[in-house]
Amino acid sequence: MDKKYLIKTYGCQMNVHESEKLAGMLQSLGYTETDIDKDADVIVFNTCCIRDGAEQKIYAHIGALKSLKKTNPNLVIAICGCMTQVKNRPETIKKKFPFVNIIFGTHNINKFKNYLIEFNSNHQYICDIWDEAKGIDEHIDMYRTSGKNAWVNISYGCNNFCTYCIVPYVRGRERSRDFDDIIKECKELIADGYKYITLLGQNVNSYGNDINDDNITFANLLRTVATLEGDFVVKFMTSHPKDLNSDVIDVIASEPKLAKVIHLPIQSGSNKVLKDMNRNYTREKYLAKIEEIRAKIPNCYISTDIIVGFPGETDEDFLDTYNIVNQIRYDGVFAFMYSKRDGTIAAAMDNQIDIKIKRERVNKLLQLSKDITKQLNQESIGKQYRIIVDSFDDAKNEYIGYTDSGKTIIVKKIDELTINNFYNVTITEYTKNKLYGVIRR
Ligand code: 5AD
Ligand code: SF4
Repeated sequence: MDKKYLIKTYGCQMNVHESEKLAGMLQSLGYTETDIDKDADVIVFNTCCIRDGAEQKIYAHIGALKSLKKTNPNLVIAICGCMTQVKNRPETIKKKFPFVNIIFGTHNINKFKNYLIEFNSNHQYICDIWDEAKGIDEHIDMYRTSGKNAWVNISYGCNNFCTYCIVPYVRGRERSRDFDDIIKECKELIADGYKYITLLGQNVNSYGNDINDDNITFANLLRTVATLEGDFVVKFMTSHPKDLNSDVIDVIASEPKLAKVIHLPIQSGSNKVLKDMNRNYTREKYLAKIEEIRAKIPNCYISTDIIVGFPGETDEDFLDTYNIVNQIRYDGVFAFMYSKRDGTIAAAMDNQIDIKIKRERVNKLLQLSKDITKQLNQESIGKQYRIIVDSFDDAKNEYIGYTDSGKTIIVKKIDELTINNFYNVTITEYTKNKLYGVIRR
């Protein structure tokens, strides 16, 4: 038997990691990976529903398999991930695409193996969606595909109910993973040679809130992982500004193995919009957090998410957002147009904003962010960063490395460097989107 699988992953890192679990199950059944649709015996869509655009793209991609399914009726098509947890979506998917064979949700991903075995034996359509999770399954085969980086779940779900967001509905309430299980997994990954450990949760800062032990906090978890033996760097995502406390900032500042990188979604710079979004902070409180980060962690890479065109967002509200981005000068900005998600509170709000205005606002922000990035790159000359050396370009006689935040830094070969080792560099030159550095010994 030489059976092949292909997994199409949409959305966030949580899904990227869950696809590694799907891949592990497929490999344990003897399947091998392919990236060519027509060579696959099983195609899995691991879906996202954060915005309508994501869903429409997925529909188009599933639809594109219709002719392949005709030429290869033995092809098994499975759909899972966030979209399948949306009310009535499985029915819509099956109606639009009757050739789909297996549909399952976010809470029963670990059952995929059983569904596939069952389908292969009786060829009966399977649709199994659970309303809530039944515990956390630690015993899962995993096939990691993210290179030097290993993703580690620390919590699942979200309790925040930001009014625009569908995540709490499709991923359920927040569940923290057992502290010792997380540490055990990290130790194994470090022993296996992974250079980056990225802790994953919808809101990592509230890790442990559902565990009845005051010592189980995100700050303690970070400190414990960052003080394990070995040569590696710890990252995490995503933080909620209301829960990012001084303890966490202090740990990042003091522990050398923690990346000086924080993704801190602001969503809006207008207090009125923040309130309507149910974000539980003001622009002033957010700015105070940024100031604390910059005071304690010099040179920290800070990025953000922003939604423009939230219901009722006026020109003045948008200007508040624009101005705060200009003031903070983020290293990275992910700006999205608000997308109405049925069942969320914001979907029922009056004053939905016209798509033309959303488009204008998003473009203005992206242009601003581009200008800031250019300035920051120019200003980075003389600054110091940790990089990992990734490869050597023979033709140019230079090494290619990456900072903890993923920026490319080129190092001309003067001394021999070791691939996959960390070095400290000082930035010496910036040319047309490229940063050059020299090793600091
Ligand atoms: N419309 C647009 N963007 C959204 N996000 C979450 N929900 C929506 C929505 N309904 C954005 C937020 C979040 C990021 C992952 O996606 O900015 O931080
Ligand atoms: Fe969605 Fe808000 Fe939870 Fe993030 S914190 S997943 S934006 S509800």
